[in-house]
Amino acid sequence: MKRRHFMTSAAAALAGVSSGFLTGRPAGAAGSASSFTRLEMPPLLDTRQSGRLSLSARTGSLSFSGGPANPTTGFNQDYLGPTIIMQNGPLAAEVKNTLDEAVSVHWHGLLVPGEHDGGPHLPIGQGESWTPDMMIAQQPATAWYHSHIHGRTAEQVYSGLAGVIHVTDGRDAERGLPVDYGVDDLTLVLQDRRIDQSGRMVYDPSMMDVMHGFMGNRMLVNGQSGAVAAVPAGIVRLRLLNGSNARSYALSFDDGRLMHLIATDGGFLSAPVALSVLNIAPGERVEILVDFSGSGSPVLMSGIEQPYGVLEFGVDDTMPVRITGLPENFGPEPEDLAGTEIRTRQLSLDMGMGGMMMGGGGFSINQRPFDMNRIDLEVALGTVERWVVRSTMIAHPFHVHGALFRVVSENGATPRPENLGWKDTVLVTNEAEIIMRFDQPASRDKPFMYHCHILEHEDAGMMGQFTVS
Ligand code: C2O
Ligand code: CU
Ligand code: CU
Repeated sequence: MKRRHFMTSAAAALAGVSSGFLTGRPAGAAGSASSFTRLEMPPLLDTRQSGRLSLSARTGSLSFSGGPANPTTGFNQDYLGPTIIMQNGPLAAEVKNTLDEAVSVHWHGLLVPGEHDGGPHLPIGQGESWTPDMMIAQQPATAWYHSHIHGRTAEQVYSGLAGVIHVTDGRDAERGLPVDYGVDDLTLVLQDRRIDQSGRMVYDPSMMDVMHGFMGNRMLVNGQSGAVAAVPAGIVRLRLLNGSNARSYALSFDDGRLMHLIATDGGFLSAPVALSVLNIAPGERVEILVDFSGSGSPVLMSGIEQPYGVLEFGVDDTMPVRITGLPENFGPEPEDLAGTEIRTRQLSLDMGMGGMMMGGGGFSINQRPFDMNRIDLEVALGTVERWVVRSTMIAHPFHVHGALFRVVSENGATPRPENLGWKDTVLVTNEAEIIMRFDQPASRDKPFMYHCHILEHEDAGMMGQFTVS
């Protein structure tokens, strides 16, 4: 079968993405092949030469299919921020805040001390700057950054204060991996947003929205709706960030082609794992390899029962094909920390129906709603701990700052493939046991957070804080 060209394949894909209430394509765009737009990557901010980075939180606007301009926020641009490339070594950051409220920049997935972590204790006031002098020292990984002001995180991230980080050691070409940003190495920020009939992007969570987390009716990828990702006819690397406030995705291709999982939150797996369905919860990142060399115009879908379109791909024969085969392995199995822990803690992610009905919330961990002035746990620097995390009522994506963990078990069984590597966020459907070593210090003034990454839950109190000393 002859491979269709990008233009025609995109047009063919248009017809395919109509199932489900949530589509990647605005209604009305279908019908003419010339109306699709090519998906763009966030601009690159490469810190490898300078050892510096500069971000500025600012206002912007975004409109969908000719609708009104929606007020947004972003770093250095209208919505979202640049993709920051960094390597191990010193990194001097400068974050300016030109907004009229405090923001912060939390480096989600970077292993840095509490004073550089950018959590709720490190607000950057209106007109102020924050200049952490950081030291990057970790395995290559796809991380991200976002604002983290307590009680404001959900709305601030929703309006655009987030971006992706690539930590690289410059050896991906040797590993046989695609490395050409925006060509065969795509960064994809998945977000659902609620767009009303007049094209307005809405954030007005009701009590039910807070309970389930705020979900949208339109898919945005890198802040774009209905765009088509052009890819070469070979192996392409997709770095996916679930930057949604609350929605988890069960990703699959409409033509059944496989996704080869190569990395999770904290870095590479020892070898690719072939999956036909890949789950990604809010806050998580995955890297996958997909072979686009065959015929067809695949659409990345989400959902098992009522699948909806997330992103269409179109093979562009004019794009260079560099990688045609899958790498076999990336190195040894990730370190197994089991048995080295000095203590076990039990954490229950609580939400109480009663409390919510009275408008109170009831979101807490171990029945204690987040309190900026209370340290919940004290961890000894350099030690390993096992945490047994339980979810109540719904599945909660649990995230820990300042450490990477291994998932020991999920609901009493071997973890699913998505949770086999290094992680900093895990979807706890019922119970998950995680084990981690705490090598980064955090003081009582600038503690680390652990929380549900459904941002409405986090803001409502499903968060705690800990010191490492
Ligand atoms: Cu992605 Cu505490 O955050
Ligand atoms: Cu984090
Ligand atoms: Cu939650």
